[in-house]
Amino acid sequence: MADDKLGNNLNTVGAAMAAVLKPSTEMPNTAVEVKGYDFNNGINHAEVVRHMYTTGFQATSVGEAIIEINRMLNWRIEDDPTVEDDDALPDPDNPNAPPPPPPKCKIFLGYTSNLISSGLRESLRYLVEHKQVDVVVTSAGGVEEDFIKCLGKTFLASFSVAGKELREKGLNRIGNLVVPNANYCAFEDWIMPILDEMLLEQKEKGTVWTPSKMIHRLGERINNPSSVAYWAYKNDIPIYCPAITDGSIGDMIYFHSFRNPGLVIDIAGDIRAINNQAVYAKKTGMIILGGGVIKHHICNANLMRNGADFSVFINTGQEFDGSDAGARPDEAVSWGKIKMDAKPVKVYSDATIVFPLIVSETFAANVEKQKKDDGKY
Ligand SMILES: NC(=O)c1ccc[n+]([C@@H]2O[C@H](COP(=O)([O-])OP(=O)(O)OC[C@H]3O[C@@H](n4cnc5c(N)ncnc54)[C@H](O)[C@@H]3O)[C@@H](O)[C@H]2O)c1
Repeated sequence: MADDKLGNNLNTVGAAMAAVLKPSTEMPNTAVEVKGYDFNNGINHAEVVRHMYTTGFQATSVGEAIIEINRMLNWRIEDDPTVEDDDALPDPDNPNAPPPPPPKCKIFLGYTSNLISSGLRESLRYLVEHKQVDVVVTSAGGVEEDFIKCLGKTFLASFSVAGKELREKGLNRIGNLVVPNANYCAFEDWIMPILDEMLLEQKEKGTVWTPSKMIHRLGERINNPSSVAYWAYKNDIPIYCPAITDGSIGDMIYFHSFRNPGLVIDIAGDIRAINNQAVYAKKTGMIILGGGVIKHHICNANLMRNGADFSVFINTGQEFDGSDAGARPDEAVSWGKIKMDAKPVKVYSDATIVFPLIVSETFAANVEKQKKDDGKY
C-alpha cells in the first residue's frame, strides 16, 4: 500500500476522491435551473409569485398549481381533439334549460369552514362574484360564517388566549380569530323567520328543500355583496353542503324543530345534483382547499365521470395516517376520481398564505383580461 510523505494511504484518499467527485451525466436540455426572485429588480409582488415555480420546495408546488389552474381556465373544446364537440347532452333535471355556452372546463371549488372565518373569504367571494368557478362545496361553518360575517365582525386574536377566559367573555375562538357570541344570536334572529318561510313553502307548495336550495334562498335573503352565497345566488352557482347540520345552522334547525316542527332537508336531491354536475361536464377541474368532507365530496362526484381532468389540492394533511384529508392526488387516481393521464398538484401549505397569491396569477388575471377585452378599461 502506497503512503505519501505524511503517511496518508493514497488508495484510501483516491477512493474518497472518486466518491466525492463522481462525474455527472449531462442534464437534459429541458432541465429547469433553480432561481428565485432578485429584489435588486425592485419590489414587484407579481414577479415574486412568478419566480416561485423556479424556487423549489413548496414554492414550486405553488407555481405548478398556477399552471394547472390556468390550464383549467384556458381549456377550450375546439382545441381538444380527445373530446367530442356534440354538446347535445341535455341535463335530465333541467330539460328546458337554455342552450349551454360553448363548453369550458367546469371548475369545482371546495373549502373548509375555517377559510370563510378567515380573510380568505374575500378571495373566495371574488371567484364566485366573477363567475370564475361553477360548483362550490363547503362544510356547514363555511355556509353560516359567510352570513354571520354580514351580521357582525370576526376579530384577530391569538392562538394562545385561554379558553376559560374567552368563554367567560362570550367569545369563541377559531385558531387566532375570535367571533363574539352575539354574532350567533344575531344569526338566530336572522335565520329563524327564513326557516319558518321554508317550512310554509314545504307545506303549501310541496317544496323539497335540499342544502343547496336552502343556501340559494339564504344567499338571496342576505342581500349583501360581501357574501359568497349572495353572489352564488346572483350568478346561479350552486353551493353544496352535505353535512349542513354540523354547525350553527344545525343548532338553529334543532331549535326550530321545537318552535315550529316539520322542516325536512333532503340530501338525496343534492347528491344527484352534484354528481350530475360532473357527469354532464365535458372537462372538469377541482380546486380543493383543506380536506375532510369537502375534499371527498368533490372527488367522489368526479368519480362519476371516471375522474377529474385537472386538480389542485392545497392542504396541510399528511398521508401516513391513511386519512382522506391527507391523501395525495395519486390516491384519488387509484379510485378513478382523477384521470390517469392528469397532472394533479398538491401544495402542502396553509391555504390562507398561498391561495391569494395563486388567485392573483390565475383567476384575477383572467378577470382583468376579460374586462380589457370587453372594453371596460
Ligand atoms: N369555522 C369553523 O371552522 C367551523 C364552524 C362551524 C362548524 N364547523 C364544522 O366543523 C367540521 C369540520 O370542519 P371542516 O370539515 O370544514 O374542516 P376541518 O377544519 O376539520 O379541516 C379538515 C382538514 O383540512 C385541512 N385544513 C384545514 N384548514 C386548512 C388550511 N387553513 N390550510 C390548509 N389545509 C387546511 C387539514 O388537513 C384538516 O385536517 C365541519 O362539519 C364544519 O361544518 C367548523
